[in-house]
Amino acid sequence: MSLLNVTNLAVAHGPLQALWDISLKIEPGERIGLLGANGAGKSTTLGAIVGYYPTMGGRIEFDGCDITSDPVPSRLARGIGLVPEGRRLFTDMSVRENLEMGAYLAQPRKQLAQSLAQVYAMFPVLQTKSAQAAGTLSGGQQQMVAIGRALMSRPRCLLLDEPFIGVAPIIVQEVMAALRDIAQQGITILLVEQNTHRALEFVDRAYVIENGRSVLEGTRDQLLNDKSFGAKFLGLD
Ligand SMILES: Nc1ncnc2c1ncn2[C@@H]1O[C@H](COP(=O)(O)OP(=O)(O)OP(=O)(O)O)[C@@H](O)[C@H]1O
Ligand SMILES: [Mg+2]
Repeated sequence: MSLLNVTNLAVAHGPLQALWDISLKIEPGERIGLLGANGAGKSTTLGAIVGYYPTMGGRIEFDGCDITSDPVPSRLARGIGLVPEGRRLFTDMSVRENLEMGAYLAQPRKQLAQSLAQVYAMFPVLQTKSAQAAGTLSGGQQQMVAIGRALMSRPRCLLLDEPFIGVAPIIVQEVMAALRDIAQQGITILLVEQNTHRALEFVDRAYVIENGRSVLEGTRDQLLNDKSFGAKFLGLD
């Protein structure tokens, strides 16, 4: 059974329809990319999966259950985690407080100490800066806090919205290694990434969306060998 199954999703922001027809299917343990130009609807898709935006049409199933109309906390409780675009940290609060916010639901709260230790093991710099205001950290370190906060909810499926934005080149590999580590723990990953080369280094398969519609899906090798994909996303002609 698929872990996440999105079919014919349609979403509007007020009067403006952003998604018209998005479908994607993710098996447990897969690493999947979601690619598309600026404004294609990538963030809206992730936001709709986690329940921030109501759907106008289509269906979202997680682990075989229809969650299309479920409230956000119940989706988080089922195991959907989001690392949002732009990180959305509480910049005046400490690193540790930001991380603890990720464990506010009843079940994750019981495992808070263990989860915190795991996040600090993954990103040791966060332990040394645990009492510092999150806003004083570098871009890369703030991204580590955002990823760590999502892990504190002990997700089965992690949605990441452009986690390398604002991350210095030398830190990118460190964050990438953390994502590999997360995937190795069996957590399913849906990664939105502007840098297609970088995304294809990491994912097994990817979906391409254009103007709110799914237009292409393929394994890494299928996409690398697709001429129109190469011209549009890899700078090849
Ligand atoms: N909160 C909002 N209110 C109104 N319109 C929105 C809102 N968020 C997104 N949109 C619009 O919905 C469409 C899809 O935006 P979305 O942010 O999902 O795209 P994206 O693929 O994530 O783009 P980017 O690569 O720039 O992050 C765009 O036309 C955008 O202007
Ligand atoms: Mg976006």
